Amino acid sequence: MSDSTPQYRIAVVCLGNICRSPIAEKVLAARLQRAGLGHLVEVESAGTAGWHAGESADRRSEVALQRAGYDYGHTAAQFTAADFERFDLVLGMDYDNVRDLRGIAPDTLLAGNVRIFRSFDPALMHLPEDDPALETPDPYYGTQADFDAVVAMVEPAADGIIDHVRLEL
Ligand code: 4NP
Repeated sequence: MSDSTPQYRIAVVCLGNICRSPIAEKVLAARLQRAGLGHLVEVESAGTAGWHAGESADRRSEVALQRAGYDYGHTAAQFTAADFERFDLVLGMDYDNVRDLRGIAPDTLLAGNVRIFRSFDPALMHLPEDDPALETPDPYYGTQADFDAVVAMVEPAADGIIDHVRLEL
């Protein structure tokens, strides 16, 4: 296998794929790059709903990413049952996403690849999987500050995901 072939693939999934999961995807991809794993790990994002497919990220997501020093180019897509075959880890941003993803998984093995994103935050990983503190709240009906808060929430979790991926490679 060449050095440029990804060995591990991660999908980050929210509802609309214009607010939370594009932010989480860009933060995770940038930190993987910084960790020297950018060529080995591929990150994509998608939504359980297809309402915004083809659109850019919400302008407030773009602003939050840009302010924090991340890229923000994005085209929204819907996550489908067939996508499960392409990913080693499928990360929902809230429990609705996790439940919807497990509901469309082709089999129980693939459903087992679904986790909630912030469960990898070292400060939160002691919490049980149904703890509301592991959710990344939907900022869609909120303000720019809620989008900036999403960046801050996903950064430590992204580093925890990178630690997890190192063990898997
Ligand atoms: P996201 O936020 O799931 O974080 O992308 C939302 C985006 C769009 C809608 C809801 C949530 N919507 O209802 O269109």
